[in-house]
Amino acid sequence: MSAVVLVGAQWGDEGKGKITDFLAEQANCVVRYQGGSNAGHTVEVAHEQFKLHLIPSGILYPETLCVVGNGVVVDMEKLLEEIKGLNERGISTDNLKISLRAPVVMPYHKKIDELEERSSKIGTTKRGIGPTYADKINRIGFRMSDLVELTDNFKARFKAQVEYKNRIIEEIYHEKGFHYQDLLDQLSGQAEQLKKYLADTSYLVYQAIQAGQKVLFEGAQGTLLDIDHGTYPYVTSSHPIAGGACTGAGIGPTCISRVLGVAKAYTTRVGEGPFPTELFDADGELLRARGAEFGTTTGRARRCGWLDAVILRYAVRINGLTDFAITKLDVLDTFETIKICVGYKYKGTLLTEFPENADVLAACTPEYIEMPGWQQDITGATTYEELPLKAREYIEKIEELTGVKYSLIAVGPKRAQTIIGNKLF
Ligand code: GDP
Ligand code: IMO
Ligand code: MG
Repeated sequence: MSAVVLVGAQWGDEGKGKITDFLAEQANCVVRYQGGSNAGHTVEVAHEQFKLHLIPSGILYPETLCVVGNGVVVDMEKLLEEIKGLNERGISTDNLKISLRAPVVMPYHKKIDELEERSSKIGTTKRGIGPTYADKINRIGFRMSDLVELTDNFKARFKAQVEYKNRIIEEIYHEKGFHYQDLLDQLSGQAEQLKKYLADTSYLVYQAIQAGQKVLFEGAQGTLLDIDHGTYPYVTSSHPIAGGACTGAGIGPTCISRVLGVAKAYTTRVGEGPFPTELFDADGELLRARGAEFGTTTGRARRCGWLDAVILRYAVRINGLTDFAITKLDVLDTFETIKICVGYKYKGTLLTEFPENADVLAACTPEYIEMPGWQQDITGATTYEELPLKAREYIEKIEELTGVKYSLIAVGPKRAQTIIGNKLF
């Protein structure tokens, strides 16, 4: 049995898309299990760049079954755009399957996300993620299968829901609401176009696992954006952690053989919320410039800082990480000195475990160790031995601080710029 869960170990944008694409060459099936079009996964192949939001990063391999699981909230408009964009570039989507159980992101969810953001100030992507998951949990949401079956019961519930959402939009925010019939026509038309992709995806994934195929679960966002285990309330509304793969794909925990944590060689965050190692100086600027740290989905400048080993150890615990993929090591190439946070000072005491309260985290100051930089270009390295000694020492320090070994190291965005340690499949 070879099922690997790939998760972001920090606040998202760790390079999960690149690593998924790299591993997808060997995988038979790649499954997205949570999030929605808030995700932005970049894959670079030859001179082409693909930005994927809802479709798994395995789609560039025509033989790989790509699954959007029940845990993903589906914005049909964005999904159709993404399918069209890929098809126009000669990428087949015949290998794509979407769960009939996936909740649908409604236009009113996006509107409400945008309106609520004015006061909640989470810094969301305004893709309707929070409102859609809230309705799912509140049992007032709608699924892909509803839009296909179009039963009278669904239509009545949907009409009531549009009226309810209109009251929020019109009476609280004094903006224009939605017309029920127009919305129904629009959504059922989109569902019709997606019909050929819809399936009981849990069954497909189960069959793949039972047949001994290699299955990769591609997490979106990251551990610290998890609704339960992240820096609440500055989080997303799903479970990016490894446990989310079970509920979000409809598989049991006994199916999972390895958990790969994708960690950037430094730290970034988009949106609001505490970030202890954030840099506001020239080093931070340099990380942003060298790492091209601008959001794939919203274009916002990413906040940048040093690597935080407290976070990585927390990610090891919460996800049960068995392996690390360390990405963007090349971004550190020019630094004379590199820092790693190994603990937090809070009210005069040293914290070595990640605090549960975001306000406590905001009041923490990082305790650093310093390592000498290698100050040479590593973007052409293809083996671990080809990395300069000081770069290897940096990797080994991460392993020592977290107790987990690397399996992959990325030294550039392209497929070939990947150093393999242990084989995952
Ligand atoms: P994801 O959301 O985790 O998939 O990450 P994003 O795609 O949002 O952001 C990662 C960015 O870094 C993308 O533009 C990748 O092409 C790029 N990238 C990935 N790995 C590396 C690497 O090792 N070095 C460099 N320089 N860029 C990388
Ligand atoms: P990938 O998969 C980085 C952040 C938003 C905001 C918070 C809540 O590319 O790593 P949401 O729209 O989800 O309700 O926003 O979560 N966020 C991400 N940050 N990478 C992502 O995805 C993100 N998806 C959401 O910036 O702070
Ligand atoms: Mg991203």
